[in-house]
Amino acid sequence: MGKQHLIDEMNKNIKRNPIPKRSEQEIKDLAKKMLEQMTLEEKLGQLYETSYDGADVTGPEFDSSNVVNLVRSGRVGSILGMNDNVDMYMLQKACVEESRLGIPMFFANDIIHGCRTGYPINLALAGTFDMELVEEAYKNIAFESSHSGVNLTFAPMLDLVRDPRWGRVMESYGEDPYLGVRIAEASVRGFQQDDLTSYDSVPACAKHFVAYGAAEAGRDYNTVDISERMLRQYYLPQFKKAIDCGVTSVMTAFNIYDGVPATQNKFLLRDILREEFGFDGFVISDYTASDETMCHKTSRNKRQVAKNCIKAGLDHEMISTTYIDEIPSLIEDGEVDTKLVDEAVLRILEFKYKIGLFDNPYKNMYANADEYQLLPEMLEHSRDVARKSIVLLKNENNILPLTKQKISVIGPIGHLNQVVGPWGGRVRFEDCIPFIDGLRNSRPDYDITFAQGCKTYQDADENLFNQAVETAKDSDIIVLAMGEHQWMSGESRSRTDITVPKVQMDLARELKKLGKKMVLVLFTGRPLDLTWFEENVDAIVNGWYLGNETGNALADVLFGDYNPSAKLTMSFPMNVGQIPVYYNHFNTGRPIPADNPHSDYVSRYLDCRNEPLYPFGYGLSYTNFEISDLAVSTTKLKENEQLTVTCKVKNTGGVAGEEVVQLYIEALCFSVTRPMNELKGFQKISLEPKEEKQVTFTLTTEDLAYYNIDMEFTAEKAEYAIRVGNASNNLIEKVIETV
Ligand code: GLC
Repeated sequence: MGKQHLIDEMNKNIKRNPIPKRSEQEIKDLAKKMLEQMTLEEKLGQLYETSYDGADVTGPEFDSSNVVNLVRSGRVGSILGMNDNVDMYMLQKACVEESRLGIPMFFANDIIHGCRTGYPINLALAGTFDMELVEEAYKNIAFESSHSGVNLTFAPMLDLVRDPRWGRVMESYGEDPYLGVRIAEASVRGFQQDDLTSYDSVPACAKHFVAYGAAEAGRDYNTVDISERMLRQYYLPQFKKAIDCGVTSVMTAFNIYDGVPATQNKFLLRDILREEFGFDGFVISDYTASDETMCHKTSRNKRQVAKNCIKAGLDHEMISTTYIDEIPSLIEDGEVDTKLVDEAVLRILEFKYKIGLFDNPYKNMYANADEYQLLPEMLEHSRDVARKSIVLLKNENNILPLTKQKISVIGPIGHLNQVVGPWGGRVRFEDCIPFIDGLRNSRPDYDITFAQGCKTYQDADENLFNQAVETAKDSDIIVLAMGEHQWMSGESRSRTDITVPKVQMDLARELKKLGKKMVLVLFTGRPLDLTWFEENVDAIVNGWYLGNETGNALADVLFGDYNPSAKLTMSFPMNVGQIPVYYNHFNTGRPIPADNPHSDYVSRYLDCRNEPLYPFGYGLSYTNFEISDLAVSTTKLKENEQLTVTCKVKNTGGVAGEEVVQLYIEALCFSVTRPMNELKGFQKISLEPKEEKQVTFTLTTEDLAYYNIDMEFTAEKAEYAIRVGNASNNLIEKVIETV
């Protein structure tokens, strides 16, 4: 039987009745009442997330043939990765109408940087340094998600990252914890909108708890070994902020912390999340991460997996079935207390009551979901965000913006519509605007030719190569459309080589011989080694992966209809040998003396400088800005007194533009070593040509605090440099002291 009868039923039966806003206590009472009616088997069903045929399985395949029977017997708490709302309705109907208690399931999905309208990858979006824009983007993403069956999104990804070999840096916001805290706030507020009963918001899940981005050698799923001070100073604050903003769930990371897998780590899941952070939502594992504790060799078998994880505080197993398979006998043998199961079940039931699933099990399901996707205002907004995510890295002799001339676009990504990046949600490539199309849409009267030149990474093709050289010869300026294919980054996409693929480099070198002006438009999910391009092309535009409106947004910037304003939130190394290289590094005991950079017996390489090619906070504009007149309200800051920091910013160029004024500090001495720079604020301001504005920041001793030698978070009495500028390596400073 086709799906039409289900579609008719959905259209007739699914109502959008307002969902009552209940108090915390009302929700707890309702969940407790439901719990008292449940059998152990039904309870364990609530702790299980499965997937379904045709769903986006994001890990090892598994057999989902028995899902409908499990659903009918009330043994499934949630389903991962489904996209078809009619199939979701069919399964929810089976669950609600046929299982004994009719407890609705929730449907979870990885809506990371776009549902059907793809926004820029997070590493690009963060570079806007515009938190209102970021919040608006996630609010729009929530609208499309909540109108296509999503009851929980597995976002925001809050992993701090310092290693571009790791494929998932594209999904993160970069190398700074302060920016991470701001992103956590903007994303949770954007997704949830402080109203989980709304039909326009979507509950969020902060992941991956914790320190997944610190995987050794940038190899996905690899060992993590960091100190507790590093954990607290760099990896936890983002999650604390997400929890303070009401995030409904937290996902455990694949990795270990202090030798114990996060998924069975009591210190993380109970001591920190529950006791310290006061988190009252639910904890879900990552995909089969509970089973994987056997590979970590901290669980000998599935029975031990279930025991370790439930005791550590894991509430919901994704794909693994150790709870439903092993906990009954563990309880029978007195090895697991039913109370542990009940506390996990209550958290799942409370979530379902909180978001209104008991009031409307079909909340967010639409037979006509497509009508709510790709709305013109959404696409326009995503285009605006995309152009504000583009980073201008080089512009020698102001070769950009492009003027009317014979333009040849050469490179294997110039025509691709696969430009949304990994974790592209439900974006369809046919809805994405390729680079060359964007250019031609924007300037139909311009002479713009295109040649692919090669494939993204496969062996050279002589015909393509020769066509490209011929096309380029017959032009005034060559625009290279090169970089990584979008599948070269993302989960399980670690690379030991962070250069643009060789076949593309060979083409670029050949075109260089023509002696023409050259611009690189880069497509990438990670920082790459761009040293050859820095030395050999006139301009470099980092286009990341920008989503549906990629071509149009890049055209807006290249033709100067928008003056680029984004900054890097992750350092671009000179080469892979420098990794990890990041702005908030320590000084070491043997820094390179400024007056003698070639000293021996100091911390440096024989064959490369220490600084990255492009640092955190760096990004150019078509105009120039001057930051001056730094002033502080006092040079002796008392406990909890406010320090006011002001500076002047002037647009000294000929076009309007936006600048990201950044505020950093450096503790000049502390009971533990501290970074050379720590971001503590930023403001993005717009200035007309020759216009000048004053920018004001405020700091308290709380902002200067750090985990000291006794692991107390405090601002010890010390001297602190206060710095402002437009990149982490371009700052002016004043020194104050705390008294
Ligand atoms: C994946 C990812 C995680 C994602 C989950 C569900 O393996 O690690 O980020 O949310 O599985 O798709």
